[in-house]
Amino acid sequence: MRALSFALLLSLLAACGLGVKPTGEIIGGGGGGGGGDTVSFALDILPIFQQDCTICHGGAGGLNLDSFAGVIAGGVSGAIVLPGNAAQSLLPRRLDGTAPPVMPLDAPALTAPEVDRIRTWIDEGAQDN
Ligand code: HEC
Repeated sequence: MRALSFALLLSLLAACGLGVKPTGEIIGGGGGGGGGDTVSFALDILPIFQQDCTICHGGAGGLNLDSFAGVIAGGVSGAIVLPGNAAQSLLPRRLDGTAPPVMPLDAPALTAPEVDRIRTWIDEGAQDN
């Protein structure tokens, strides 16, 4: 009997279109717009910049990482993002040490997953999404 009621509960959950990933994250509840694993500028990238970069790159003049337009406009070196080509883009190269000085200047580096997320966003076309 117990097994039967558990199966019933599971099918009820499935009927609602909801599930829970092993991480505890609720899936199927909406959000995102169904773009699969596409990285979102607004949700995944901008918050990193606002936490670690805009203290120096947020004002008028120079590189402004506080908006999509500012990121695309770039800085004194010109474009820092080449859509579809993270390997050649200055932005991630400032983060992983391949184009010193490493950013954020005088602060702990971003984590590898954060840098990967930025690379993926660029490789996916650096969209305003
Ligand atoms: C403490 C201040 C400071 C912080 C924080 C900081 N930067 Fe910078 N950043 C600078 C300075 C100063 C320069 C210009 C010096 C240089 O390019 O050598 C610069 C240059 C850059 C450039 C090159 C711009 C160009 O056009 O040449 C990029 C890209 C950049 N930063 C990205 C970032 C990112 C991304 C973050 C956050 C993870 C960050 N920076 C955090 C001070 C900072």
